[in-house]
Amino acid sequence: MPASPLRLGVNVDHVATLRNARGGTMPDPVRAAHAAIAAGADGITAHLREDRRHIRDADVERLRREIDRPLNFEMAATDEMVAIALRLQPHAACLVPEKREERTTEGGLDIVGGRQHLAPAIARLVEAGVRVSLFVEPEVHVMEAARALGAPVVELHTGTYCEAVIAGDAGAVRAELARLARAAEHGHALGLEIHAGHGLTVDSVGPVAALPQVRELNIGHALMAEAIFDGLPAAIRAMRAAMDAARVASAA
Ligand code: PXP
Repeated sequence: MPASPLRLGVNVDHVATLRNARGGTMPDPVRAAHAAIAAGADGITAHLREDRRHIRDADVERLRREIDRPLNFEMAATDEMVAIALRLQPHAACLVPEKREERTTEGGLDIVGGRQHLAPAIARLVEAGVRVSLFVEPEVHVMEAARALGAPVVELHTGTYCEAVIAGDAGAVRAELARLARAAEHGHALGLEIHAGHGLTVDSVGPVAALPQVRELNIGHALMAEAIFDGLPAAIRAMRAAMDAARVASAA
């Protein structure tokens, strides 16, 4: 299939992590969002965690008010977060699993076992006009379960693939890319919009960007890490260039 345009969503959580390390107001995640958009981001992602360890309520409210690109509100499917999302009315809500003790989102949602708890949250958000995306493991049976839950979008967890790239394990990289490709194809055939993210870097983004069904990548940590050395606009431009080069090569 011909590749459709690929959007880059920039996750600004770790700008808030740095701010919170000292308290106060800098660096400002909303300023980072403006800089990201100016450098080529198509949307902004922010995860309001239960413990507010990085993004805080006032940040998402300012992001919603002040940025002129889609806001992807990452959230656990709790009553508290659903109520905030319904009030905030972001463009999209990405439902993720959340454990207090984890450093970052460690795996996809258990949408098979967690169906009963997820279904009402998804229904309330969809009914309110919020585009719901489910952050899931790239497995064919999970695509079926996502479809059955009525979410229009899945975000495929690329963490295992990225770990294989870092470990230099070519066999695992091939296996993970095949798993991502199968899930993307199957999900797309079921009518789901396919996003992907977690752990992607300039070095690992290409093969995922080349999957023709993938419409959006959400990337944070690697961009903020590079921004320390090169500045955020340069980090975003380099990521965009890597994504676009892989996309063009796969379409040729
Ligand atoms: N997508 C989801 C659902 C996430 O939870 C995260 C991490 O917050 C990302 C994408 C971005 O991952 P990273 O910060 O590793 O690029």
